[in-house]
Amino acid sequence: MKYSQIDNTLFIKNRKKFTNKLDANSVAFFNSNDIYPVSADSTLPFEQHRDIFYLSGIDQEESILVLFPDSIDEIFKEILFIRETNDHIVHWEGEKLTKSDAFEISGIKNVHWLGEFDEILSKILKEVNHVYINTNEHYRQNVETQTREDRFIEKLKNFGGLSFKKSNPILQYQRSVKDEIELSLIKKACDITKKGFERVLSFVKPGVWEYEIEAEFSHEFLRNKSKRFAYTPIIASGINSNYLHYIKNNKQCQSGEIILMDVGAEYANYSSDMTRTIPVNGKFTTRQKTIYQAVLNVKKSATELLRPGILWKDYHIEVGNIMTSELLKIGLLNKVDIQNQTKKKPAYKKYFSHGTSHHMGLDTHDYCDLDMPFEKNMVLTVEPGIYIMEEGFGIRLEDDVVINENGSPTNLMANIPIEIEEIEELMN
Ligand code: GLY
Ligand code: MN
Ligand code: MN
Repeated sequence: MKYSQIDNTLFIKNRKKFTNKLDANSVAFFNSNDIYPVSADSTLPFEQHRDIFYLSGIDQEESILVLFPDSIDEIFKEILFIRETNDHIVHWEGEKLTKSDAFEISGIKNVHWLGEFDEILSKILKEVNHVYINTNEHYRQNVETQTREDRFIEKLKNFGGLSFKKSNPILQYQRSVKDEIELSLIKKACDITKKGFERVLSFVKPGVWEYEIEAEFSHEFLRNKSKRFAYTPIIASGINSNYLHYIKNNKQCQSGEIILMDVGAEYANYSSDMTRTIPVNGKFTTRQKTIYQAVLNVKKSATELLRPGILWKDYHIEVGNIMTSELLKIGLLNKVDIQNQTKKKPAYKKYFSHGTSHHMGLDTHDYCDLDMPFEKNMVLTVEPGIYIMEEGFGIRLEDDVVINENGSPTNLMANIPIEIEEIEELMN
């Protein structure tokens, strides 16, 4: 791993909070992700399943976490299974976790080799009332691949007579409220993103290619212990800035165009998620400035709304109202547009068609319960945009913020340049 070892009190607390929510005499299982194949003998880089990571800190393939808090037998309360290494694996892949490494990382005393799993599984299943399985219930999930968790659930079905419950609803809420240690890891990811952006500000000039900008970010991220982009980066110049999920990043940037860059570093599996829009030649045109300032105004006002007790759906309605008034001010909407709008089809959607915020953490679009009011220590993005197809450009600005108990949220990206004058000054 490139990141420094995380204080294991985080994982100990996470397990405690989770097991407090289980029904009596239940067991919960969490599996690592598979290493996904490409073809022949090639594979994608390993990415740990965020739930087993959240509950144990174990960042290695083929691991299984078993939580059975009501077990009479102390050794079954928490068990971690890890892949047993050997000389051949060490020769080809290097050192794997030892049992004592796994204990240090997770705080779990009872660590076994994976080969012992089936025998212990049979014993535990005879004793429990319910089995908590780990399904993916995220509101935006759209997964066709069978995961290791899915295969494990199939395997459990062979036992017959088990009563299944789902871990996911517990974790959706629990993971949305961040621990202080998690906040510092997310902040670290944001700070790495800042370094990348500063590097890009002095790199961009007419004639650079979008992929060259991507490479500048990548260089800065890797040398700061971010193993990869938190999500596929969007480097969208000119007309491409209107395409919300543009990821080709293969156009040359021309003087007079803007570049929309939606880019974030990860750190220790935690995401950051930033968008900045800058002028290729270092100076915004008057029109670009007008639109930019409108987006920035919406972002600032929307951020102020993120307070404990506010409901997700009310927040989005209010941001819609703020966006509408900015669009009226700059003449993109008029009174007739407002008269003709309906609740289902507000006029502002013509220029701002995506959501303003999402939770962020171990997943860039993180777990959350959208019916729960906002709470202290939830981390959300604020990312309004105005996209004008007929004028050939769009502008989006995005920061990550932490909701506070009182007052305005803390902007984790407050130190990343965003004001028009700041950007122009740094680019020149
Ligand atoms: N880059 C993905 C997002 O901003 O949500
Ligand atoms: Mn983004
Ligand atoms: Mn985002």
